[in-house]
Amino acid sequence: MRAEKSSFWHIGVIGGSGLAAGIDLEDAQEIAVSSPFGEPSGPVVTGRLGGVRFTFLARHGAGHRIPPAQVNYRANIDVLKRCGVTDVISLSAVGSLREDRAPGQFVMVDQFIDRTMGRANSFFGPGLVAHVSLADPVCTRLSGLLGAAARRAGGEVHDGGCYVAIEGPQFSTRAESRMYQAWGADVIGMTAMPEARLAREAELPYALLAMVTDYDCWREEEAGVEVTDVLAVLHANARTARAAVAQLAAVLPSVREASPADRALEHAFITAPDARD
Ligand code: ADE
Repeated sequence: MRAEKSSFWHIGVIGGSGLAAGIDLEDAQEIAVSSPFGEPSGPVVTGRLGGVRFTFLARHGAGHRIPPAQVNYRANIDVLKRCGVTDVISLSAVGSLREDRAPGQFVMVDQFIDRTMGRANSFFGPGLVAHVSLADPVCTRLSGLLGAAARRAGGEVHDGGCYVAIEGPQFSTRAESRMYQAWGADVIGMTAMPEARLAREAELPYALLAMVTDYDCWREEEAGVEVTDVLAVLHANARTARAAVAQLAAVLPSVREASPADRALEHAFITAPDARD
């Protein structure tokens, strides 16, 4: 049976590269939460900001030790759900596939193309079959609020964008980069999938603040992606992203109304309901 969500916001924050040190929270407490899906990336840190509860999880673990393909995305989403978060925001570094999405800018992603391979991408499987809708993988309300918060934090923010998730850990070839452009992708990263899929299955509204660190390698005149260049932009972006989280507490409506993603499983199960009792 589904427990109704409370009318209070509790924001889960998944911090990617550049954000391993976490976000500033009042009364912060570190808690190790275990999951039947295995080890999450680390303990969560929970605390308050402007009267709103936030629970933070570093996607790549302390000291950035877990590569994109080895992140246990199921355990990460599961522990946030167990902590009682109502909504999840992801703060993730990306490359840009467009001239007008420059390093240092932010993109509120609203679509995905998934090119990851072999990652555990569902909570369901044999014996309990469910097919959630992923047509609109991002919560429009949460994304709008996070975008507004990032602007208040001084970020240059673009609304909407398609994120192609690659397996990595290598960056793309030029041919791949141009193919992703031809497919209509705007930004490229290695981690938002299967995270966004799993958040939907867990009935957690999801939004992604993508922090552009580089132009990937589609530009003829440029060398490929250099990690040193990425890191320089990453640190500046991470400061704005932290400030955006603080601003989010200020722009959230005082009462949390239901979001469509809260009931994603309502029409998703194929397994006969009595078999699930
Ligand atoms: N993360 C940051 N920049 C990236 C790029 N160019 N490709 C994939 N992931 C990235």
